[in-house]
Amino acid sequence: MRMIPNNASVALLIVLMFGIAPIVPTASAEGALYNEPIIPIPLTSNLNQDKVALGELLFNDPRLSLNNKIACATCHQLDAGGDDNQKIGIAHDANNSGMHVINTPTVFNSRYNFRQNWDGSTRTLAGQIDKVVHSHLEANTNWSELISELRQDFKMSKRFSGVYSEGLSRDTYVDALTEFEKSLVTPNARFDQYLRGDNNAITDKEKQGYQLFKDLGCISCHQGINIGGNLFQKLGIFYNYFASRGNIQHADYGRMNVTERQSDMHVFKVPTLRNIEVTAPYLHDGNAKTLEDVIVIMGRTQLGREIKPSEVDLLIMFLKTLTGEYKGKKLEEESS
Ligand code: HEC
Ligand code: HEC
Repeated sequence: MRMIPNNASVALLIVLMFGIAPIVPTASAEGALYNEPIIPIPLTSNLNQDKVALGELLFNDPRLSLNNKIACATCHQLDAGGDDNQKIGIAHDANNSGMHVINTPTVFNSRYNFRQNWDGSTRTLAGQIDKVVHSHLEANTNWSELISELRQDFKMSKRFSGVYSEGLSRDTYVDALTEFEKSLVTPNARFDQYLRGDNNAITDKEKQGYQLFKDLGCISCHQGINIGGNLFQKLGIFYNYFASRGNIQHADYGRMNVTERQSDMHVFKVPTLRNIEVTAPYLHDGNAKTLEDVIVIMGRTQLGREIKPSEVDLLIMFLKTLTGEYKGKKLEEESS
């Protein structure tokens, strides 16, 4: 007779496979699909809410940038999927034409990425913030400039002293902003409800889409809690994407820019597919306008096959079940 694993051993398996503790199964989670290669985002967190509130102020504060015009929220719009809905977003205007070199990824669920940025150039959210501060495309400033400017704001200094005994410093700034970023998660997507055992949370067509996502092999790269965000892969395994697109830029080199290894040419972090419905345009170059476009590209470049229109439709139906909630409200493309 086959051994049926109990909840505890399945949970242990998930911890071993993904290094992430799943929600402890309860009686009401009877029938939960804990052995799937995708796992739900936890419904609760134990973040320090004072730090989160302080970090939220910083996220929205344009004093971040040298010209006092660009905040994190300028490029990562939380009411628009956590990105900027542009092919290539704006950049700090000091040293360039005003355009960034790469598509802006969503900031939602970035705490679950094993590295940050398309090329994985930073490991941690704190390291990512340091990069933003110094990047001539982003804040274009430095820590002493930024912290001394904020210290002149009596109210801001007081807020920090209320939360941190050492007051406002580079470390406490990064700590508060990181805590806020950790709150930028989007639980309760319909697909997560399904994984938790609500068989009616997604339709039969959407289930077929998920099955196809697994059968075609999308799942081999897009999996885990973020349905991506835990691997590096080359764009163009079966088909030379860049030769067909043309006009190759430095940013297209991907991870090679970090490691300087030729084998990392055109290698990128596999991006999350959570909330993908609201974060068009797609790919590091923002070159795919719609989900249909990007799915056809994925089939050709990553799987070596032409995905049929009927299959594309099913995959899109599945992908749309991955849209979650922030502050209890389902994410939308744009509110304005
Ligand atoms: C001028 C626009 C702009 C500003 C301002 C900006 N970002 Fe970004 N952000 C980007 C772009 C573009 C990338 C991708 C960069 C890359 O891959 O090289 C990115 C990447 C990220 C990532 C990595 C996401 C992932 O999936 O890899 C995080 C996290 C992030 N930003 C957080 C922040 C925070 C926090 C701030 C404020 C301190 C900020 N950003 C300010 C445009 C911006
Ligand atoms: C071999 C690994 C691999 C496979 C298989 C794969 N992908 Fe991807 N996927 C990637 C990488 C890497 C990127 C980012 C490429 C880039 O932007 O340069 C990506 C990007 C995407 C994006 C755009 C994400 C964004 O935010 O811009 C979508 C959507 C997507 N994949 C869906 C799929 C679907 C659907 C399948 C199956 C038909 C699939 N992928 C198969 C590796 C893979």
